[in-house]
Amino acid sequence: MRRGSGKLASIWVFHGPNLNLLGLREPEHYGSRTLAEINEQVVALADQVGINVECRQTNHEGDLIDWIQALTSDDFLILNPGAWTHTSYAIRDAIRAVKVPTVEVHLSNIHAREAFRANSVIAPVCIGQVSGLGADVYSLAMRYAIDYQDQRKTK
Ligand code: DQA
Repeated sequence: MRRGSGKLASIWVFHGPNLNLLGLREPEHYGSRTLAEINEQVVALADQVGINVECRQTNHEGDLIDWIQALTSDDFLILNPGAWTHTSYAIRDAIRAVKVPTVEVHLSNIHAREAFRANSVIAPVCIGQVSGLGADVYSLAMRYAIDYQDQRKTK
């Protein structure tokens, strides 16, 4: 997807497995907003400042790894790895390999649920993590990403 100036997207929002079911899936944990609504909000924030963004979702771990491998350290990634958060050394290695600055997001507070969710194998290769604030985690991460990309432009 090309937006704004016609340049390729420089902020990428990747959603992992089962996040296509948002709105229907366990609303007590994940809220009532659909993925389409969340993506619309992300795109609206990017449009306000004229930055390029692309949102994608997959249920296939290899797809996510291929998408990450196609990024560079000039991009910025907002990633909700879903359950791969707790299991995927392959996704962690891909982020580290391409050195893309990454913020991990979770709608639910992964530290306040089942014990297995409290551990993220992805977090150590991320700048930070936003967890537990519902769909707002995406807009908060977008604000951070926009500032981050803006500061790099002026350097
Ligand atoms: C999630 C938390 C994960 O533990 C879970 O497997 C998900 C969603 C979240 O956004 O809260 O699929 O990443």
